[in-house]
This record gives sequence, structure tokens and C-alpha cells, in this order.
Amino acid sequence: ERMRNILQQMPKAELHIHIEGSLEPELIFALAQRNGVSLNYATVEELRRAYAFTDLQSFLDIYYAGASVLLEEQDFYDMTAAYLARAHADNVRHAEIFFDPQTHTARGVPFETVINGIWRACQDGPVSATLIMCFLRHLSEDEAIATLEESLPFRDKFIGVGLDSSERGHPPAKFCRVYERARQLGLHLVAHAGEEGPPAYIETALDLLNVERIDHGVRCLEDPELTARLAREQVALTVCPLSNIKLRVFDRMDEHNLARLLDAGLVVTINSDDPAYFGGYMNDNFIATFEALPLGVEHARQLARNSFSAAFLEGEAKRGFL
Ligand code: ADE
Ligand code: ZN
Repeated sequence: ERMRNILQQMPKAELHIHIEGSLEPELIFALAQRNGVSLNYATVEELRRAYAFTDLQSFLDIYYAGASVLLEEQDFYDMTAAYLARAHADNVRHAEIFFDPQTHTARGVPFETVINGIWRACQDGPVSATLIMCFLRHLSEDEAIATLEESLPFRDKFIGVGLDSSERGHPPAKFCRVYERARQLGLHLVAHAGEEGPPAYIETALDLLNVERIDHGVRCLEDPELTARLAREQVALTVCPLSNIKLRVFDRMDEHNLARLLDAGLVVTINSDDPAYFGGYMNDNFIATFEALPLGVEHARQLARNSFSAAFLEGEAKRGFL
């Protein structure tokens, strides 16, 4: 109970949240009605029952279907505003938010509709928030490059690029050129690696893409040399405990390797990934993790400190949080 209060009340940053993954079933139905989009589910309850995932792909299929109700700038605004209000309630003071433009432009939604709606909600929101544009790795690198070019008129509205969607069979090496171009543009670089994919993907994300943080990265422990390197170079991992259980990366929370990652000296952070789909926001992730693993107050403070030190904040803003 005391631990729960500490976890809830401590200021924290969220560094791994897909804004499309914050779309709650109730909002999916409200937007479907507002936009005249038909869904394959009759009720909120029926949709929620479909959230029984066996792996990353089984989740992604439903996640992309849910995002199909987003058509107008106001839809993207409302989704983002709802997330920021929820994050604020969990004492999140800063969020670096992923968005997937290709999920929407492929359906004919203009790029500017997506980014303007999300960005405007961040300006109006109760917590500090910045945006990271993700490329869908199941699509080609040429499509990622076209998306980066399309984003250039909005260069001031996002701080970095990331890589998400189906990991297996789509290694970081596939995206060398687009990451080099993003680097030249002065963007921050991150990538999902070592969630379902092998430790080698973490290594190539660092060596070929020059990423500054690894999203997930939990499979690094299978490779002791890689683990030692991540500790030596203090590469942050944005770990998402409830996501890892729902997508069966680990069978049960008491089998999660987060405590071992911390023990190995890694810069671990706790994040929600897709909170509407995985059973909880930031504090739910902290509480579920601390209930299942041998972690105490010092670990809590370390995780909160890591979230700010790994954030892409600069100067006064960073010092203010640390
Ligand atoms: N897109 C949304 N959530 C994701 C995850 N956990 N891994 C890969 N792609 C995603
Ligand atoms: Zn993710």
C-alpha cells in the first residue's frame, strides 16, 4: 500500500507510448459513429473480448482496425487529449509520443490532418509532450523515405523518428538509408528492437541505425556481451511490462526480466506501449511490475530518474525534471 502510493505519486516521464494504442474502445465506437465508419464488432464489450492476443502480430491486426475510425483532425486531437489527461492523472510530467502516419495516409487521411491534430492536443495538454514519428517496418524502406519527405514541412512539430510494427523478418538493416537521412536532419533516433526479434536486432539498431534508445530491448539478456555493452554505453531501454505479458514475450509478470535488467546496470524505464489494449497506463505498469518482482523504493526512484535522464529534453527543462 505504501509502495503503491509512492509509485503513483512520483513524477515520471513516459517514453514509449503509441498514441493509436491509447484509443479506448469507447472512443473507437464514438468516433465510428461520428464518422459513419462501420466496425466488425457490435458493442464495446465484443471489441474488448477480441483483445486476447497470442503474439505481436495478433495485436497489430486489431490495433490497425481500431485506428480506422480516425479520419478528421479533431479525431486525432481528441485521442491525444484523452491520453494526456490520463497520463497527467498518473503524475506523468513529460511524454514522448509515437505516432504512425503510414497507418493513416494509406487510408487516404492526409499527413497534415494526423500531425496537426496530435500536435495541437500536445500544445493544449496538461503535461509536457513531444512527438516521435514511427515508420512501419513491415512496409518498404522506400515508403519510409517517402513518409520522411512528406513530413519535412512539419519538421518543427516532431523531435525524432522510430521504427515499429512487425519485428520478425524486418531487421533494422532494412532502414539504414532513411535513418541516415533522419540523422542528417538533426532528428533523434530510436527503434523497437529485441521485443520479439533477436538480440542481433538490438546490436544492428545501434550500429547501423545509430539509435540513441532501444524500445523494449528485453531480449538483450540472451547475449551477455550485448548486455555489457548496453550497460557500458548507458543505452536506455523503454520497457513495457504489461505489453510484454499480453503479447506473450513473458508468460507471467513474475517471470519478467526487468529486475535482472536493472541488476545488470542497464538504464531501464517503465512505459505503457499501448495502454488501451494491454490493460493499463503508467501507474498500472509500475504497480503490476512491483507486485510481481523483488523491487523496492530505491528501484522506483531509479526508474523515475532514468525516465527523465533518457528523455530527449535539453538544458533548463532537463535540469528542472532531474
Ligand atoms: N506498434 C504499437 N505497439 C507496438 C509494439 N509493442 N511493437 C511493435 N509495434 C507496435
Ligand atoms: Zn511499442
